[in-house]
Amino acid sequence: MSMTAHLARCHNIDDLRVLARCRLPRPVFDFLDGAAESERTARQNTVAFDDTVLVPRFLIDVSSVKTATRVLGQDIEWPLVCSPTGGSRIFHPDGELAVARAAGRARIFYGLSTTATVSLEDIAAVAPGPKLFQLYIFKDRDMTRELIDRCKQAGYSAMCLTVDVPVVGKRERDLRSGFGVPTKWSAPLVASFARRPLWSLAYLRNGALTMPNVAHRAGADSLPAQTRYIGQQLDPSVSWRDVREMIERWGGPFAIKGVLSADDARRVADVGASAVIVSNHGGRQLDGAMTPIDALPAIAAAVGQHIEVLLDGGVRRGVHVLKALARGAKACSIGRPYLYGLSAAGEPGVAKALRILHTELIRAMQLAGCTDVRDIAPDIIAGN
Ligand code: FNR
Repeated sequence: MSMTAHLARCHNIDDLRVLARCRLPRPVFDFLDGAAESERTARQNTVAFDDTVLVPRFLIDVSSVKTATRVLGQDIEWPLVCSPTGGSRIFHPDGELAVARAAGRARIFYGLSTTATVSLEDIAAVAPGPKLFQLYIFKDRDMTRELIDRCKQAGYSAMCLTVDVPVVGKRERDLRSGFGVPTKWSAPLVASFARRPLWSLAYLRNGALTMPNVAHRAGADSLPAQTRYIGQQLDPSVSWRDVREMIERWGGPFAIKGVLSADDARRVADVGASAVIVSNHGGRQLDGAMTPIDALPAIAAAVGQHIEVLLDGGVRRGVHVLKALARGAKACSIGRPYLYGLSAAGEPGVAKALRILHTELIRAMQLAGCTDVRDIAPDIIAGN
């Protein structure tokens, strides 16, 4: 069956996940799909959406609903951001380029990770639409400053500082498979690659992967060495003072990603950032952390009048976006949903993931009696 035919049979994000699992060697799929320790937080991120119950309203003219909005200083077609995810060329040779192009065509926000396998300049060349760049504040502060300056030069719209990685979470699927840094080659690992010859061939043709945003600083050519370098550069001593310096250096829309408490969200506003991204890193960091949709109402109440509040993590349906907006988010951000599409079919797969979520959101708005994403009221949530 052709790829187009396979994609045509995907009716929701979970269908794309199944297709991705068929395409990728199991350890690569597990790197994408997996999370920290028991993975309870990752599962709960979506369960908590499903447990949020809607009270629809009727006899409202929903013949045409409006999804356009403005986020981080940019007009977008609907309230969605592609979250930054490192290493996307592992999943498909076109990697981050495919995602940035698809996001640009859908006229939504694209987020590029510091640990991307395509340079920030190459992304800027193919994706003229709204783009944010995701930073870490490294031990070598000059590396972070250099990335900010390069993003200014390349015309990025916004910065996003990830704060929930003082150290990397314990991802047990990767430990079990041996896929990671360093990869622990074993007969089962080799066999899992041999079972996916199409992916393996494309991977070999792709040439050696690197992290071009930081490669020159790492002083090493290989992805494992660069990944190790980034791991060593994560700085558990970063403080709000460091954050203020980076916000001032950028001087434009600046989001802080990985916040779950109202107190921290207030500090985000106080330090001068323009947005907070409520997130637990898709459950890949602290297992047992609160879910974004549960953390959202208190954060929106605390800072929603002053800065933009975005929700990241667990979104698998358009109706999840509707629920997040009703609970006070300006927009949602997704990671795995577009990576499933990328792994399944490259850029058309990403485009399919975005289309599914957008059309589901429009239908959910019509069914719930909402006409404009900019004024979805909390009273469509039961017991709000
Ligand atoms: C991520 N995420 C992430 N976040 C970040 O700030 N920098 C990064 O480099 C990465 N890399 C990364 C790789 C992979 C494979 C995944 C799945 C995730 C986290 C990401 O930005 C986002 O927070 C989550 O993916 C959101 O949860 P969902 O949408 O995947 O449920």
